[in-house]
Amino acid sequence: MKNVNIGDVHLAVEERGQGVPLLLVHGFPLAHEMWAAQIEAFSSEFRVIAPDLRGFGRSRDALDGTPNRTPDAPLTMDGLADDLVLLLEALEVDEPVVFCGLSMGGYIAWQFWRKYPERLRALILCDTRSAADAPDARSDRLRMAEGIAEWGTRSIAAAMTAKIFSPVTQQHQPELVAKVRETIAATDPRTIAAAQRGMAERPDMTAVLGEINVPTLVVVGRDDALSPPAEMRAIAEAIPGAEFVEVSEAGHLAPMENAPAVNEAIRRFLDD
Ligand code: MLT
Repeated sequence: MKNVNIGDVHLAVEERGQGVPLLLVHGFPLAHEMWAAQIEAFSSEFRVIAPDLRGFGRSRDALDGTPNRTPDAPLTMDGLADDLVLLLEALEVDEPVVFCGLSMGGYIAWQFWRKYPERLRALILCDTRSAADAPDARSDRLRMAEGIAEWGTRSIAAAMTAKIFSPVTQQHQPELVAKVRETIAATDPRTIAAAQRGMAERPDMTAVLGEINVPTLVVVGRDDALSPPAEMRAIAEAIPGAEFVEVSEAGHLAPMENAPAVNEAIRRFLDD
């Protein structure tokens, strides 16, 4: 792991391998470890860069060492995209990247594409959405942002792990479920609040999907209840030339739940 200073924060980053840069951007409220199987599979051919985003995992504020010193400011999706460009600059990555994001990582991918098209070679969107939140979902986020300090991260971890996995994963990979529960529980509550506020104000990108002009792969777990296959298929259909892959025995965290199938889809896409 490296600690890379990008101004006001040090981002913890796993960087492995050489070649075309493959940037792996985690979901909420996780950390780069969610990509362990992809880091392993692709670092023999690619320069894999897997950061902990601002406030998450082992990333730390440069000044006082807390995960997130400005908890009241929303962690916006385009602010997080800016961080990633600063990270690429700090790592001296000059060529365009393959951007692979899961869920919140996908929300960030849309903003990265919008703001930094010259930095993008291809997109891999896992278990994500292009739509903004409906009013109810937005209120739920803001309620969590308000209540998290009092409720504690353990209760959120339990509630989320009940929803994000496929029933198959729940039954056959209890250690994976427990690991993700621990990651969520270990996330600073202020980061959870700030990211919820940031996601609540993210823009609806559905109308501009037709303008995406880089090779794109859309991957979804068949049992994803948060970004369901029908919605992700519609995203793929709206992006010119995009490929769509539905992965069995996986829910919202397909790259973890069924890594061999997701890796095969990514490999086929990258080999084309
Ligand atoms: C994620 O996995 O990043 C979250 O489900 C994103 C969200 O809360 O919309």
